[in-house]
Amino acid sequence: MKETLKKIKETALLELQSPECDTEQLRVRFLGKKGELTAVLRGMGALSPEERPIFGQLANEVRAEIEAALNAKMKEKKERALSEQLNREKLDVTMPGMPIRMGHQHPLTRVQREMENIFIGMGFQIAEGPEVEYDYYNFKALNIPENHPARDTQDTFYITDNILLRSQTSPVQVRVMEKQNPPIRVISPGRVYRSDALDATHSPLFQQMEGLVVDKGITMSDLKGTLETFAKKLFGESTSIRFRPHHFPFTEPSAEVDVSCFACGGKGCRVCKGEGWIEILGAGMVHPFVLENCGIDPEVYSGFAFGMGIERVAMKHYGIDDIRLFYENDERFLKQF
Ligand code: PHE
Repeated sequence: MKETLKKIKETALLELQSPECDTEQLRVRFLGKKGELTAVLRGMGALSPEERPIFGQLANEVRAEIEAALNAKMKEKKERALSEQLNREKLDVTMPGMPIRMGHQHPLTRVQREMENIFIGMGFQIAEGPEVEYDYYNFKALNIPENHPARDTQDTFYITDNILLRSQTSPVQVRVMEKQNPPIRVISPGRVYRSDALDATHSPLFQQMEGLVVDKGITMSDLKGTLETFAKKLFGESTSIRFRPHHFPFTEPSAEVDVSCFACGGKGCRVCKGEGWIEILGAGMVHPFVLENCGIDPEVYSGFAFGMGIERVAMKHYGIDDIRLFYENDERFLKQF
């Protein structure tokens, strides 16, 4: 029995010296309830009463020695793991930093801000309105009754019979005129919706910017001067504009407005499709019915309004030929601005 104890001790201590030694496994194997040392202690029943205390003491000594060696080994392992970790996590503060990638404004936001700033410089304020709009504001108050053909070209998404996604920013005109007495000078940029299929030049969602001026004695020449100033500031001083007669139910007279092609100066090129002119907006004098609908006396006041697509301006401005590029969020595209 003495021999067995000695053997257990020697094996345990020897195995503990090995660098791969699994301390937990070793503890179970020698000191655990079903361990080798416990097995020896159980066998002590067979000993004479005189021998028992001697062996008991010896067994306890062996246990203590193994435990001490085990603890030392565990401590050493822990320390080694810590120092390895500290080594691994060493921080060299003199290394160059990791650059943080900075984003920038989306090209549409950029053009929108540029356009806004030009109008703010002319004394306009920015007005906003809801994208989910009543039929009344989007159509009826703008002199587009039910069954009017203008509803076909501005077909949109209906939430109920009289609530829809606005097809233009013109309803903001009505909301502003209802609340504010002239003089009024606002622009209202924002999202609009139409039930169009997505292709290179159409999108069911796009942005427009509306403009509205109402005061005493406002005439078509004020409209022309305002738009000409805007076009020169946005596209360059040599830009000129031209008005072509058109029809909008909420303006009378109405016009479509072109700017001379900023790419070729009017000679005709790819950008203007050989025309020399690029159509950018619709405009006109606010229809007396619309003023009346908003509680403004058309005998006293007059006004002009205009509206343009921000995507269209941005596409012409940057030479982009597909509207879908604005919404795909492909970095290869966005990085270019
Ligand atoms: N709302 C018109 C459209 O979307 C544009 C417009 C605005 C025309 C204001 C005249 C005056 O086509």
